[in-house]
Amino acid sequence: MSLVNSLARRDAAVLLHPQTDWRAHEESGALVVARGDGVHVFDENDKDYIEGMAGLWCTSLGFSEPRLVEAARRQMSLLPYEHVYSHQTHGPAVELAERLLALAPPSMKKVFFACSGSEANDTIVRMIWYYNNALGRPKKKKIVSRRRAFHGSTCVSGSVTGLPNLQADFDLPLPGFVHTRAPHHYREGLPGENEEDFATRLAGELEHLIVAEGGAEQCAAFFAEPVMGAGGVVVPPRTYFAKIKAVLDRYDMLLVADEVICGFGRTGNMWGSETFGMQPDFMTVAKALSSAYLPISGVMTTQAVYDVLADNSRRRGFFGHGFTYSAHPVSAAVALETLAIYAERDVLGHVRRVAPVFQRALRHFEGHPLVGEARGVGLVGALEMVADKAHKTPFDPSLKIGPRIARAAREQGLITRAMGDTMGFSPPLVITETEIGEMFARFGRALDEIAGSVKPAQQAA
Ligand SMILES: Cc1ncc(COP(=O)(O)O)c(C=O)c1O
Repeated sequence: MSLVNSLARRDAAVLLHPQTDWRAHEESGALVVARGDGVHVFDENDKDYIEGMAGLWCTSLGFSEPRLVEAARRQMSLLPYEHVYSHQTHGPAVELAERLLALAPPSMKKVFFACSGSEANDTIVRMIWYYNNALGRPKKKKIVSRRRAFHGSTCVSGSVTGLPNLQADFDLPLPGFVHTRAPHHYREGLPGENEEDFATRLAGELEHLIVAEGGAEQCAAFFAEPVMGAGGVVVPPRTYFAKIKAVLDRYDMLLVADEVICGFGRTGNMWGSETFGMQPDFMTVAKALSSAYLPISGVMTTQAVYDVLADNSRRRGFFGHGFTYSAHPVSAAVALETLAIYAERDVLGHVRRVAPVFQRALRHFEGHPLVGEARGVGLVGALEMVADKAHKTPFDPSLKIGPRIARAAREQGLITRAMGDTMGFSPPLVITETEIGEMFARFGRALDEIAGSVKPAQQAA
């Protein structure tokens, strides 16, 4: 893409982009997205793209929901800002907390609001450290997570994250954050090992790691996305979370379910925790909470955890943590309207109806010469590209197969996401069967184009 239009040129001159090769960006420039309509976005020339990733797994109601615009306008006129520090509150904060808890598993009793998934996960780590200090366990602070996990980009949530590209040269992870094997059966399973046996091995490895890191005395909590998103849409093997939970219970460790992607129906249930039988002590929500129209996230926790934190807040004078924009009234009003729309339109029922169509279309690609595995659940999925299907041999990373497919898909009018050579799909939850068909048709044309340009020698590399 040449820098033909002025906005792209101005962008390259001044804007620093997250998770982008900045030197490559100087040459390629940006796709300028000008407007959205349903599951489509349009560039400056009005070319249409199906947003196959709902932005960053988040725009659940699509890109033109007038009720969310109106909810924001209404709240802006009434009360554009107030905080919820030190015994002050406002309607949208209380109503949203009540509504969220009504949707959450019954064990969740309290909500703390933040502005992003990263801030919410940072908040949880702080709560866990505070909790163990309050209980007189000052050494019980280590956080265990998984390789390939993504929990955010701040120093703490970036330490819980297990993706080397997001940590190298940033001096992350910080001390006290350790990672165990990802539950990725296709990549990490041994030859002939079934999902149940793989899950048993993963639980055993987790236990070894916990023991090596000081056992119950030092290990505080385990963070997990129900389905790993940015790590390549990794669906856990059958029986995984039951086996992991048994280990955590033996070492008196808390379980955090990071529902930032999976929450609000993405996996075919309201919560990924439900889909995979997790019984968390904390849940992180963001993204689809407001259909991403405004930034807001939340931390939910149990009465048992709350009681310890509350007692300590009294001892210390107050709970010394918060953000200027915690429970921002306009974001909260938009989130409330989003949750109302989910209920009125039975968005979860819709996901359940169209998910089989989505998953069938995804798995259809397993016959394609470049596709090693198709995986997913509900309305999230991925296709992992390999050079040799029989041996699951990855492509030489310098070939940049994933980014090339993403670029070709863009030409075909589809926005998808390359996570290395794994292509992700996580469309708005309101996508129709017809739109799913069109999305994968556009993807198929892009994939064939790249397959045609990959030499047999490269395929066998
Ligand atoms: C599972 C998960 N947790 C946390 C985050 C971080 O959220 P944010 O980018 O809002 O800080 C993300 C972002 O993609 C995510 O996918």
